[in-house]
Amino acid sequence: MSRSLFITIVAQFFVVLISCQPEKQKATEIESPSKNIKIEFTLNEEDQPVYRVLHQNKEVIANSKLGFEFKDAPPLQGDMSITSVKTSTFNDTWELPWGEDQLVKNNYNETIISLRESKETKRVVNVIFRAFDDGVAFSYEFPEQPNLKELVILNENTEFQLTGNHDCWWSPGDWDTYEHPYSSTKISGINAFPFQKNTLANSHIVENSVNPPFTIKTNEGVYLSLLEACIMDYSAMTLLVDTTNYKLKTSLVGSDRLGYKVKRSLPFKTPWRTIQIATKPGDLVESKILLNLNEPNKLGDVSYVKPIKYVGIWWEMHLGKSSWDLASGKHGATTKNTKRYIDFAAKNNIGGVLVEGWNTGWERWIGFPDREGVFDFVTSYKDYQIEEIVKYGKSKNVEIIVHNETSSAPRTYEKQLDTAFSMYNKLGIHAIKTGYVGPIIPDGEYHHGQWMVNHYQTVVEKAAKNKIAVNVHEPVVPSGLRRTYPNLISGEGLRGQEFNAWASDGGNPPNHLTIVPFTRMLAGPIDYTPGIFNLKLKPYKTTNQVNTTLAHQLATYVVIYSPIQMAADLVEAYEGHPAFQFIRDVGVDWKQSKVLDSEIGQFVTIARQERNSDNWFIGSITNEQARDIEINFDFLEKGKKYKATLYRDGDNAHWNEKPDEYKIEELDIDSSSTLKIALKEGGGAAVSIIPL
Ligand code: NOJ
Ligand code: CA
Repeated sequence: MSRSLFITIVAQFFVVLISCQPEKQKATEIESPSKNIKIEFTLNEEDQPVYRVLHQNKEVIANSKLGFEFKDAPPLQGDMSITSVKTSTFNDTWELPWGEDQLVKNNYNETIISLRESKETKRVVNVIFRAFDDGVAFSYEFPEQPNLKELVILNENTEFQLTGNHDCWWSPGDWDTYEHPYSSTKISGINAFPFQKNTLANSHIVENSVNPPFTIKTNEGVYLSLLEACIMDYSAMTLLVDTTNYKLKTSLVGSDRLGYKVKRSLPFKTPWRTIQIATKPGDLVESKILLNLNEPNKLGDVSYVKPIKYVGIWWEMHLGKSSWDLASGKHGATTKNTKRYIDFAAKNNIGGVLVEGWNTGWERWIGFPDREGVFDFVTSYKDYQIEEIVKYGKSKNVEIIVHNETSSAPRTYEKQLDTAFSMYNKLGIHAIKTGYVGPIIPDGEYHHGQWMVNHYQTVVEKAAKNKIAVNVHEPVVPSGLRRTYPNLISGEGLRGQEFNAWASDGGNPPNHLTIVPFTRMLAGPIDYTPGIFNLKLKPYKTTNQVNTTLAHQLATYVVIYSPIQMAADLVEAYEGHPAFQFIRDVGVDWKQSKVLDSEIGQFVTIARQERNSDNWFIGSITNEQARDIEINFDFLEKGKKYKATLYRDGDNAHWNEKPDEYKIEELDIDSSSTLKIALKEGGGAAVSIIPL
């Protein structure tokens, strides 16, 4: 055969092959293990990737586009083709070292869709979808590829097209703080701008956006929450709101200093964008999607991370009884005062004492532009003998929790991390609380941007090396990283109790904590600091107060999850209060947790079973409306008898009129018992259930 004839035959054969090839694949679908949730993925007319989500065969997210904008490179949107589709199934159960449940089931179907641009750039991106029975998640993966070494992201354009003008619970898409009240409106009613206010935390709201977790009740009665898992070396997202078309779109937190939102070398994966889907609001709370999307524990033995209750030299500063700084003449963190708290903790089954204002720098911590080099994380004020205090605490089995307020000068903090953490470790201190009050230095960086995300991560990893657990105030929203780094024990990231002491808007409204479990708490543990008994804050405050009843404060220990729970009030406020027994008894580490009943913004009742005991605890809270709840104890072990102690609102209790009126009742119960409880306005009930 001549060479030219051979070429002709081969060429013809090739043509035939191409013409026989089926239509290019344009779509695929992924179903959850029980098939109640389905994701449909397609390339639209512009060959831009689009997804849609169905729940029980009804659309909950309509066609929504995926894409990116970059600096000095064309956007990634249309002109893509599918080069491969790989599917797999995962089913596993794993154990949390501490948590709201001991065992976590992780069951999903995964599809990795590889996409390539057809035009000259030929960039490759994989979209990884996971369909769980309680929601969906997806992440973009930029694999190693020729001619693309780094991406400077100006924005990620991931859409969430809602199916109507649904009800939602939201807080503004602030780049600097989550310390805002929640609003409840229709999607069309979202307006973030009026929330731009600089109080103790700095505020930076650039668009009409909301911060995740963003929770929705569809007009068909399905509950959705949008959040993100595994934020590492990336910015947190806000969700830009289109109030006319009921659409949300990711808008990443940026750096004005650097002029972009995220910079990454390839290969890398974005955080997971997750949509939790439930028919009852309580199922959002019980979902473990976020943890399941993070990597397993990287730290190994974390027995130094101890779930505990703690008291602290803290509320006294917020009330103005004492101060953080020494110069004021009413310094709170003295050796004598700390020992008083240690004695109180030791007597009351409380494992820790937090001390704020122990180190030098508080004379220039807030309101000064030049805060670099001010805080010293190893040097105590002269009236605070740290070694003696830690030793005294150890002799009584009480841990000292060291406070590291950075005043948002993270570079000053980073310079001292190694020295400070190794000093704490040597002293036998295994827990810190960090804080980032004020605008970040350098200018143009924000609390939730990539630069700060990396800072928070550095702190957690250096702390782990020194066997230290970290509770972060003014953090970036938690994203389930506690699975990988179980020393990341708790965090703030919402309007905590502190606002009740000094906020000029009257503090947190009575319904605040009936919304938080379905929003911020979906992201992770919350250091809310409950347990204020002196609710009118007398004699320290004249215009501020706590807007709940005392029984509501008790219930918060169960409703709001954190493995470290503060008994936040002054120790003298607990004197003469039989209700303090609940705080002595309540657990902090759980075998299992169940949301018994709830309606977002109205009421919530949660039961938790303690690990390493058969005790159960229940917390129930209501908003500003009184209501009767009924508890069915059918979750208790059959045939077993328990003593239940009920701490409920007194007959005349009311968050404003008689907040501290309560009643304690004891009853014998078993799994066939039921109990009706009257919750008063802004009230609550707490129950401890101990086997007989
Ligand atoms: C704000 C924190 O949330 C609070 O707990 C702390 O006491 C102050 N900053 C001072 O650091
Ligand atoms: Ca705060």
